[in-house]
Amino acid sequence: MDLGLKDRVALVTGGGSQTGFGKGIALALAKEGCDIIIIDKDLEGAKKTAAEVEALGRKAVALEADVTKSAQVNGAVKNALERFGRIDILVNDAGAATPPKPFVEKTEAEWEPDININLKGVLICTRAVLPQMLERKSGKIINISSGVGRYGMANSAVYSAAKGGVVAFTRSLAKEVIGSGVYVNSISPGLGDTNFLRTSGILKTAETPPEFLKHVSADIPVGRMTTPQDIGNMVAFLASDVSSDIVGQVFDVDGGKIIAAL
Ligand SMILES: NC(=O)c1ccc[n+]([C@@H]2O[C@H](COP(=O)([O-])OP(=O)(O)OC[C@H]3O[C@@H](n4cnc5c(N)ncnc54)[C@H](O)[C@@H]3O)[C@@H](O)[C@H]2O)c1
Repeated sequence: MDLGLKDRVALVTGGGSQTGFGKGIALALAKEGCDIIIIDKDLEGAKKTAAEVEALGRKAVALEADVTKSAQVNGAVKNALERFGRIDILVNDAGAATPPKPFVEKTEAEWEPDININLKGVLICTRAVLPQMLERKSGKIINISSGVGRYGMANSAVYSAAKGGVVAFTRSLAKEVIGSGVYVNSISPGLGDTNFLRTSGILKTAETPPEFLKHVSADIPVGRMTTPQDIGNMVAFLASDVSSDIVGQVFDVDGGKIIAAL
């Protein structure tokens, strides 16, 4: 199927992690013919991903910004618009979770990164990119949420609340802007062997991904973890006009974890 994405311009936040979903998304879109802007607080990683996009024959730029800081995001988006003229597709992928801890033991200071990176960061990046989509009456926004935003996760209540907020934001903004030709949807990835698993403390330090998979496999009907390519494929579909009857939806690309969880 030709997705018709050739020469579209996509901005992917969080594309700097070399094991992450964001890189998989950037490469999947580049393979479909998109030029790619990567925004990440990890500039070196973002540059590596940009080099792989260029090796696929597309234009790419890596820009450093912390998605929780609107001045940095606005500056990066301005820079991207000066270079590319427009942004057709925004993928809000940047995310992180603080290590699991009972809610009563987490301090207010510990809530902040969970809420700021995962929810406020999505709001800030969308606020920066949306106006030129509304002006052109065309755009695709894809927010990476998480199943825990709907079925919950003990000891990660604040991260889960932030991801649930992304789902609510997706549906609400979709209702608000669909009349202006802007489509907003969300993807909830399953467990992926990315840096996130380690930085969030979900994967214990002594545990290898296969051991981890063994003890969580009962929760994953297809019996494998979600790959960056899995998420990239779904993003490419939602970013294309092939999916023009789909709006305000949340898709679980998770090997069936959602059906085991509910
Ligand atoms: N890996 C999983 O099992 C899993 C499951 C469900 C949802 N998710 C979500 O998928 C998304 C991608 O995560 P991943 O698994 O690829 O993790 P990852 O750690 O490999 O990648 C996350 C990227 O986000 C960037 N980032 C983090 N905070 C940032 C900030 N403040 N400003 C700019 N960039 C920032 C990091 O530098 C990194 O490049 C996240 O939103 C995460 O919550 C992951």
